Amino acid sequence: MRPRASSLALLAVCLLGVSAVSHVEEKRSQERLFLSSLGLSERPRPAGSHQPRLHVPSALWRMFRAPGNTQAQEGDPCTVSEYGVRGNIIRYVRDQGRPVSGWSSSCQACLEKQLFFNMSVLQPVELLSLAQLELGFLWKPFRPAELLQHPRALSMSLYKVIRPTLRGADPQANRRLLVSQSVWLQPEPNSVTMNLTPLAENWRKVGHNYGLILELLPLSTDSEELLPFQPGNALMLEPAFTFPLIQASLVVVSLNLHQCRSRQKRSAIHLHVTPSNVCKARSLYIDFKDVGWQDWIIAPQGYMANYCHGECPFPLSESLNGTNHAILQTLVHSLDPHSTPQPCCVPIRLSPISMLYYDNNDNVVLRHYQDMVVDECGCR
Ligand SMILES: *[C@@H]1O[C@H](CO)[C@@H](O)[C@H](O)[C@H]1NC(C)=O
Ligand SMILES: *[C@@H]1O[C@H](CO)[C@@H](O)[C@H](O)[C@H]1NC(C)=O
Repeated sequence: MRPRASSLALLAVCLLGVSAVSHVEEKRSQERLFLSSLGLSERPRPAGSHQPRLHVPSALWRMFRAPGNTQAQEGDPCTVSEYGVRGNIIRYVRDQGRPVSGWSSSCQACLEKQLFFNMSVLQPVELLSLAQLELGFLWKPFRPAELLQHPRALSMSLYKVIRPTLRGADPQANRRLLVSQSVWLQPEPNSVTMNLTPLAENWRKVGHNYGLILELLPLSTDSEELLPFQPGNALMLEPAFTFPLIQASLVVVSLNLHQCRSRQKRSAIHLHVTPSNVCKARSLYIDFKDVGWQDWIIAPQGYMANYCHGECPFPLSESLNGTNHAILQTLVHSLDPHSTPQPCCVPIRLSPISMLYYDNNDNVVLRHYQDMVVDECGCR
C-alpha cells in the first residue's frame, strides 16, 4: 500500500509541529516551506512538452547515480569530486543566445553565435565554485569519403562582450578575445570545455552580463574548398563544407553553506523488537506524482522518506533515545496525564538524498538535499 499525498502533509505537520489549518491551505504552506528549504522561491513551472528542453547531460546522470551519492559519505559532504571543487548544487545552465545567424558581416566565411547564460538563477547566498563552458560539436559531413582525405578543422574564437553595440557601430570594438583554438571535426560528436569562473562571477552582478560571441572559421589546407560558395560553379550542387551543430551549456557548481552540514555517522546500536505502538520510524514512500511534482522533478520519481510515529511511554527506555528532559516529562505525565503530555516522537537522525530537476529557466539542476529521509526517531 502506498500512502497518498495526505501522508506527506501529515509527515510535514509532524516534522514541523504546525497545527492543522484548512487542508488545502496547509498543503500549500507546507509546499512553500519545503520548496524554500530546497532554495526555490516557488514551484518550478518548466516550459513543458511544447518547448524543447535541455536533455539531462550524461555527466549529471553519472553523478546522480554514483554509488554513495545518496548515502552518508565520509568526509566533506559539500565537495563535488567530479570537478574537484566545493559545492552542493550543480546546474547545467542552458544557452539562451540567439541561434546561429549565418554568414556574418564582420568576418567573411565565418559563423558567429551569441552565447548567453542567465546567472541570476543562482541565489545571492550561493558561492560560485566553478563555471565551465561546454561546447558540443555535432558534425555531419556531406561526403564522408572526402573527409578521410582532408581532415577538417575549425578555428574557434571565443569573445566576451563588454558592452552592447549600437546600431552601425563596429561590434569588434565591444568584445575581448578570451580564447582561440582549433577544433577538429569528426563524424563523432566532440566537445571543448573552458573554465570561465571569474567571468561568470562577474556576470552575477546586475548589468554585467552581455554574453559571449563564438566565432567559427573553417581552417583548410585546400583553398578550393571555399570556392563552391561562388555563384556559377555549377558542378558543386552541395556545399563542400557545413558547419557543425553547436550545443553550449555552462556547468555551474555552487555552494550553499546553509545546506552544508556534515553528516553524522550511523551509530552501531541496534533496536530490538519493540511493541508496534511505541515510537519508531515507519516506512513511507513519497511518490512525487502524488504531490503533483512529476513535471519538474526528473529523478528520483519518489523515495523512502519514512516518518516517526508512536508513543513515548513511562518509563522511557534507552532505545527511545529520549533526552533527560523527555525522561522527566514522561515521569510527570505518568503522575498526572492531564497536566502534561507525553514527549513527542520525532526524527533524531535524517539523511540526505540527491534530486535532479528543471528550474524555472529550464536548466537542469543536480542538488543534494539534507534531512530528506528519517533514519531514526526518538522521544523529545
Ligand atoms: C534571467 O532570469 C531571471 C530569473 O529567472 C529573469 O527574471 C530575467 O529576466 C532573466 N534575464 C534574461 C536576460 O533572460
Ligand atoms: C534510537 O537510536 C538507536 C541508535 O542510535 C536506533 O537504533 C534506534 O532505532 C533509535 N530508536 C528509535 C525509536 O528510532
